[in-house]
Amino acid sequence: MCGIIGYTGYSEARGILLKGLKTLEYRGYDSAGIAVYHPEFKENLVTKYAGRVEKLMEGSGDVKGTCGIGHTRWATHGGVSDENSHPHKFGNVTLVHNGIIENYAAIKNQLGIANKLRSETDSEVVAALIDTYYNGNPKEAIISAVKELSGTFGLAIMFDDIPNEIFAVRNVSPIICCQNADGAYIASDIMAIGEYSEDYFVLPEFSVAHITKDSIEVTDFKGNKVEPKMLKLDWDIKNSGKKGYPFYMEKEIMEQPEVIAKTIDSRMKDGKPDFSGERVDDSIFTECDNITVIACGTAMHAGLIGKFLIEKTCGVPVTVNMASEYMYNDPIINERTLVICVSQSGETIDTLEALKYARRKGARSLSIVNVKGSTIARESENVIYTNAGPEIAVASTKAYTTQVAVFYLITAKMAYLRGKLSDEECAEFIGELAKIPSAVQDVLDRRTDIHRLSNGLLTAEHTFMIGRGLDYPSLLEASLKLKEISYIHSEAFASGELKHGTIALITDQTPVIALVTQGNLMSKQVSNIREVQSRGANVLTFIRRDLKNKDVECSFELPELKDDFMAIPGVVAMQLLAYYVSSDKGLDVDKPRNLAKVVTVE
Ligand code: M6R
Repeated sequence: MCGIIGYTGYSEARGILLKGLKTLEYRGYDSAGIAVYHPEFKENLVTKYAGRVEKLMEGSGDVKGTCGIGHTRWATHGGVSDENSHPHKFGNVTLVHNGIIENYAAIKNQLGIANKLRSETDSEVVAALIDTYYNGNPKEAIISAVKELSGTFGLAIMFDDIPNEIFAVRNVSPIICCQNADGAYIASDIMAIGEYSEDYFVLPEFSVAHITKDSIEVTDFKGNKVEPKMLKLDWDIKNSGKKGYPFYMEKEIMEQPEVIAKTIDSRMKDGKPDFSGERVDDSIFTECDNITVIACGTAMHAGLIGKFLIEKTCGVPVTVNMASEYMYNDPIINERTLVICVSQSGETIDTLEALKYARRKGARSLSIVNVKGSTIARESENVIYTNAGPEIAVASTKAYTTQVAVFYLITAKMAYLRGKLSDEECAEFIGELAKIPSAVQDVLDRRTDIHRLSNGLLTAEHTFMIGRGLDYPSLLEASLKLKEISYIHSEAFASGELKHGTIALITDQTPVIALVTQGNLMSKQVSNIREVQSRGANVLTFIRRDLKNKDVECSFELPELKDDFMAIPGVVAMQLLAYYVSSDKGLDVDKPRNLAKVVTVE
């Protein structure tokens, strides 16, 4: 959470910083600020406001200078206010911070600076600590200070008496660096600076980057030079705008046929899934007795689909864990456990810490990640990247469906290697998988029908979603989508479970959404729909085309695929439903309240 940007070079810094902050705003949008070195006043001048980057744009018109740092905030310590916004300045030191300093209160007491602080943040205390250690050697001061910190941090730091230079240091929270003839750039995410160079590196943890107009030098805490691993940007940054859609979310929903196909096709060799391109050895699929999926939110829902597929097709037991709970529950784990972490950002701290824990306990690991070179990808023994491209909307859509696509590939691979699918059965599985992109396109082509249906939810305060088998985890995801962007309370239920208590809440004011894609469970699902209709509920039914029958009214017809392959088309219809409710309510679809795209606090 929080986005950091920094630039020093030959151009005016303000425009570069603000443009970067606009891109980083998905990481937090409570407040925004910049600090730019003013050559006449000979100090770093701070401009910052509670509110969106637009406000900072208006308020910083007269800022001049060619070196600066900037920040978008997702508040943790201290409310949303101008004072608590970053950058923070203490003495000679100006900094921006992403992360949480757990022992900031102790440091504050130790320094005796309570009455000198202007904010309630942990970050200002870090500025004070560095300033206390500073006696002309910036690296020494930074290293001494961060050695005292517990928690996570990505810091970009400037000193008033070292004009036009920036220093950066990190533990967990990412910092990306790149340069070109015009200067040097740092950011929390390559998307904010990728337009300046396609060659970049991720600053290694516990090393210091010294950034000048013409160089970025990295040293470890002992002063040894570090050569960071250079990466190449393979996302088309210039093509990453909204492309004429009013919101990123709509654009990202519409991209799904293409990115799902890309995720599948790039791993096919002789008609079978093949991960040798990413050096994932077949042994990880055969030498495990059980699988533990670890993830949060939407990514965890993808894991639930994975569990369904792997257990059914491969006969290998799978548990799915909320990353935030995982290591506190004494998980059963050994060297025959394969841990699969799922993460769009690759930076979610709960998932990262759970992965590290599992590896310490001897588990083998594989991560399904979208952002290249992210921390989870680097901490994991094996990585399969989803080819979703940049996902900017806070509500995850194409990252989810490509994660599910990877689970289909893993299932086919594992089942084939273990002799659970013959050549013929594997070909049949892949054949059905290959139909998913056009099935999704079919749903997208009829999106105006879903838009019309969404009117029925606009004034609802509560909704329930019901489905059986594979439809239940799909609805957990659908329900999260509706909650997070439309602020309508929604709960997903395995249809048969409703009558064990929750059916008491059903009234004629509670719309119910029923997903009906599982042929083998059709008759039971129809009975469950009847049960809620008898209690007055207005039911919107999303039914697979070939399952339509006279016993139940169809609100939206879903394309026809075999039962196990319906996880993606069903959810895409639900993404659209949530999207239209949110946009028709006039809400900020891409940046829902209280949320941030990348969750780097526990
Ligand atoms: O980056 P990650 O996939 O690790 O993020 C995990 C969750 O925070 C994320 O999936 C979240 O639930 C979605 N943005 C909701 O749409």
